[in-house]
Amino acid sequence: MNTTALSNRIALVTGASKGIGAHIATELAAAGAAVIVNYRTDEAGADRVVKEIAENGGRAVAVRADVGRSDEVKALFATARETFGTVDVLVNNAAISEFGPLGSYTDEQYRRHADTNFWGPMLTMQELIGQTDLGPASIINISTAGTTTLPPYASLYVATKAALDAATVIAARELGPRGIRVNTLAPSVSDTDGTRSSGFIGSPLADQAVAQIPLGRLGTPDDYGQVVVFLASDAARWITGAHLHVSGGQR
Ligand SMILES: NC(=O)c1ccc[n+]([C@@H]2O[C@H](COP(=O)([O-])OP(=O)(O)OC[C@H]3O[C@@H](n4cnc5c(N)ncnc54)[C@H](OP(=O)(O)O)[C@@H]3O)[C@@H](O)[C@H]2O)c1
Repeated sequence: MNTTALSNRIALVTGASKGIGAHIATELAAAGAAVIVNYRTDEAGADRVVKEIAENGGRAVAVRADVGRSDEVKALFATARETFGTVDVLVNNAAISEFGPLGSYTDEQYRRHADTNFWGPMLTMQELIGQTDLGPASIINISTAGTTTLPPYASLYVATKAALDAATVIAARELGPRGIRVNTLAPSVSDTDGTRSSGFIGSPLADQAVAQIPLGRLGTPDDYGQVVVFLASDAARWITGAHLHVSGGQR
């Protein structure tokens, strides 16, 4: 691993207290970035991630914020700036996913999905680009292979991620002249804290998902961190507006 690919970079990872976000945070730190480990409820999880990073010689801080609230996102960036400086790598990973047939969704579920999965990344992107001393930067928005596989019973979750996919390409076009790259990373169904606590892992649905993945297994959180490091680094300097399936071929 290149431990200097991201030295002098300051990375903010939303939803990094567990799962894919936690692995992304540790990989970014291992590549030399100072990392803001955002969480919403799981302070102990975020503290574990920060501790692991520190034990490996990296720099990190845990900061609580609900990404769907503009006041909390502003405070998150203010703390990040006070602690490390101008954020120049943003990974929008925080998301929720609830599944059900059309007709079953409530107003509250709609607002929670839209706020967390779509409005949250919009708010963080707006805060990032509002930093007056921001130079070249990289934004990586974590989507899902579901926005191309379009599975039944996932309309609410997948539609909020599809909105983010569209905003990502538009942001890449708007921000390219400022040297700010914006890309989508689309994971496959993966074995994470979220899919375990929802009961998905271990259910017949997980076997059906594996059957759709050419490489023949579920993703794991450590399948993604190195790809994020690459997208954040100068090695990816000519990549923006890309939609990268990191999904064992599921698409
Ligand atoms: N796992 C999969 O099968 C899969 C497949 C495709 C795409 N993805 C995408 O990959 C990403 C990570 O998924 P995962 O399975 O690793 O998730 P996870 O294990 O459920 O963890 C979700 C993380 O997001 C945080 N979070 C949720 N709502 C938040 C909010 N409003 N503000 C700030 N943080 C919030 C949680 O924080 P707290 O726990 O601290 O509250 C937690 O750290 C998501 O974008 C997901 O859509 C996952």
